[in-house]
Formats: sequence, structure tokens, C-alpha cells
Amino acid sequence: MKILGLSAGTLNGANDSLCKEALMAAKEAGAEIEFINITKLDIKHCTGCKACVMGLFSGRGNACVLRDDMQWLIDKMLDADGIVYAAPIFEQCGPGIHHTLMDRFGPRMDRGNLMIARKIAEENGGKPIDPRCLKEKVISFMGIGGSDWATRIQCDFASLALTPKWTIIDNQLFSWSLSILMNDEAIAKAHQIGLDLAAAAKKIADGTFVPGHGIINEDYRGPAGVCPYCHGKNFYLEENGNAICCTCGTEGVMKYEDGRYFFEFDAEKWIPHAHDSISGKFIHGDDIMRNEGEARELMATDEAKARKQKYRDFIAPSKP
Ligand SMILES: Cc1cc2nc3c(=O)[nH]c(=O)nc-3n(C[C@H](O)[C@H](O)[C@H](O)COP(=O)(O)O)c2cc1C
Repeated sequence: MKILGLSAGTLNGANDSLCKEALMAAKEAGAEIEFINITKLDIKHCTGCKACVMGLFSGRGNACVLRDDMQWLIDKMLDADGIVYAAPIFEQCGPGIHHTLMDRFGPRMDRGNLMIARKIAEENGGKPIDPRCLKEKVISFMGIGGSDWATRIQCDFASLALTPKWTIIDNQLFSWSLSILMNDEAIAKAHQIGLDLAAAAKKIADGTFVPGHGIINEDYRGPAGVCPYCHGKNFYLEENGNAICCTCGTEGVMKYEDGRYFFEFDAEKWIPHAHDSISGKFIHGDDIMRNEGEARELMATDEAKARKQKYRDFIAPSKP
């Protein structure tokens, strides 16, 4: 059983240390461990070229055109049964490198897309999909903040797991963390995160792991949250009273009873649409394909070409 520790903090800072505490626990539980500080890697931003997804759906695999350390990192992640991921909180959410990682996962690491691409490759003799991309994996997150401004970090973390449909075992927040190494309770919490992650990863290695519908299964040890489906705490509240869970995309209403919030939604209608589920990914994929087709047709018209030209001719981007 392999556990990979990833930290997005400064070298030997709070994130590295808590990540290593969880790795110590995983090692105690019998895991083979490895540690990477992702800020030390050369990871470029996604440019949005979509070459990876075009490759996927035409049987040519899911390679990214950018040449940097990202594929090395993805290989390390794919080789692990479990990942413990510590990232500093920047502006209440994940730091830039976390967002870049999410973008570089993008459509190429989406489990639904990969399942469709595997079928295309099998039927048409294309490049086979790396089977590691479709393997179950568990991940635990630690958001480490210098203060208590932290309202979006857990949602950002869940969004990373959602693309490859990796199962979240824990998703914890550590506030006021600059002197966290002197906080025995926090260190014990990080240790427990490592033990719980290793216990779930062992099930993957043993073949006894039972995946959930989406990114949560029976091994989840994180906060209860407010969304009864994905345990999310972030909601997009619309003016008409509709509430949308920012993680899984289920829609319903927010109620307040007995001193706490309840998110009520029609499970029969929305769970098949959940962003983290295979069924939800297929529905989203179909919507995108339909829209791509319509947009391609519309953008091929003379009127669309003329409108595009107007903006191209108006001004070119400045460069340093
Ligand atoms: C650009 C920047 C933005 C930050 N924003 C937040 C924030 O919104 N909330 C918070 O709790 N801490 C914030 N911090 C503090 C970092 O989370 C803290 O420095 C980091 O977790 C320290 O981890 P390290 O020792 O592993 O580098 C911010 C720090 C930086 C540099």
C-alpha cells in the first residue's frame, strides 16, 4: 500500500510538517510513503487549448502539450493508493498552485471522460487509456491557514477529488497555524488523518474497498458539513430561494431549524446529476458535446466570422 504526501507550503513550514506527521502515521500503519513539495516543481498554467480532451475523444490518449513536471507528478499520484494533501489557505481558498493542479487535471483526468475514451479506444483500436486513471484512490486534505479566513478551502479541495472521482476520507481545516508545531491537538489530528487514510488505502490494496456513488463513501471521516450528500459547506444562494451546493451541484432549499442549517433537495432528481458521480459526469459530458456542436455550427457562419474579426482588428494584446 502506497501513500503519497503532497504539500503546497514553504519548505519545512507548517504544511510540510503536518503532511509529514500524517505520513508518519501511514508508515506506522504499514504504508510505503513518499513526500513531494509541489511548489518545487515546474508546473505551468493550463492554457485552455483543449488538446488533451480532443486527443481523448479521438483515441489518441490524454497527454497535455505542456512540457513540465506535471506528468511526473500525475504518475506519482496514479501510483499511490492514497494521497495526503496539505495546502496553505490563500485568500480564503486554495493557493494558485492548487487551482493550477485542478486545471491541469481538467477534462483529461475526468473519470467520466476517461471511461468514454476507453470505450472509443477499444472500439476503434486507439491508444489504450492508462488503467491507473480508472483505479480507485483515497485522498485526505488539510487546509492550513495563518488566520481564520478559510471559508472556501474545503470546497476547493473537494473539487480536485471530484474530477478523477477519488474518494475523500478527510477534509480538515487548521486555522491560526503559524505555530502549529506547538499545538499537540493539531498534530494528533494530522496523525489521525494519516491513520484513517492508510486504513482506507489498505482496503484498495486488499481489493475490499467499496466506492461510493461520488467522492464520499462509508470510510469518510471528515466534518458532517451541511450538504447531506457530499458534506459540502459552500452554497450558492439564488435570489429566488434556490440553493446550489457548490461542490456537488445538487439544487434545493436551505432551511434553518433548531439552531442549524439543513439543505433539502430532491435526492431522486438530483443525485443522478451530482457533479462527482459517473451518471452526473455523463449528463454533463452530453450537455457539453451538444453545446460544442451547436457552437461550432454557429461560429462557422459569415456573421460570426465578421464579429470575431472586429475584435481581432480592434487591438492586439500588449507584451512586456
Ligand atoms: C498570499 C497569501 C494569502 C494568505 N491568505 C490567507 C487566508 O486567506 N487565510 C488564512 O488563514 N491564511 C492566509 N495566509 C497565511 C497562510 O495560509 C500561511 O502563511 C501558510 O499556511 C503557512 O504555511 P507554511 O508554513 O507551510 O508555508 C495567506 C498567506 C499568503 C502568503
